[in-house]
Amino acid sequence: MANRQDDSRFWDRIARKYAADKIADEAGYERTILRCQEYLTVTDKALEFGCGTGTTALRLAPFLSSLIASDISGEMIAIAQEKQARDAQATTTGTLTFVKSSFECLSYPDESFDVVMGFSAVHMLHNLEGGPAKVHRFLKPGGLFISKTPCLGDMNPLILVALPIMKLFGKAPNVLTFTSRQLQSAITASGFEIIEVAHHASKGKDTRPFIVARRL
Ligand SMILES: C[S@@+](CC[C@H](N)C(=O)[O-])C[C@H]1O[C@@H](n2cnc3c(N)ncnc32)[C@H](O)[C@@H]1O
Repeated sequence: MANRQDDSRFWDRIARKYAADKIADEAGYERTILRCQEYLTVTDKALEFGCGTGTTALRLAPFLSSLIASDISGEMIAIAQEKQARDAQATTTGTLTFVKSSFECLSYPDESFDVVMGFSAVHMLHNLEGGPAKVHRFLKPGGLFISKTPCLGDMNPLILVALPIMKLFGKAPNVLTFTSRQLQSAITASGFEIIEVAHHASKGKDTRPFIVARRL
């Protein structure tokens, strides 16, 4: 069983470096942003979990009525808040709130949100089944769950050998291993209808499916 108390410490430690790193595939990222924007409406109340340094939240907040962007790491949230304060156009003021919380500790009344999003985040959760089930509770009927996350089970198996060793040396976080198929099954089993599965990468094998699911 992974030691989950390490999670926030790992991300706190690497947060400044993570913020300084360039997005690996800019074209793929822009495709994802655009596709998300097409699903959002300005009356939507949204939640993002595992928001990291807030890059995506800052891009999507102007398309929403409100966005609560959360992350387990206080350092990540501090950087996100710094970026928000620097946001010259202040387009997100009043719309976007950054909150330090693990997904597992988030607590909102049932049916609070129109949209719940997680980017490179579902594989960080404590178990695969608990993720979509909790998202389902948070969403209004007909609400959308938008995810784009690495499916390690579809990657080169050598990664699965390397990960525990890297983790031992503090170079990798706790992660869940699942295939895209297993992720989609977990989502549908939690009471969703999958309405889109797409691949946005502009290069290489894409093992991070963009999935949009509607709460039934
Ligand atoms: C790979 S980063 C992705 C960050 C951001 N969404 C992005 O796309 O750049 C994963 C993020 O999930 C956060 N995280 C890890 N475990 C988490 C958990 N159980 N609940 C909420 N956030 C978590 C980490 O602090 C980190 O910021």
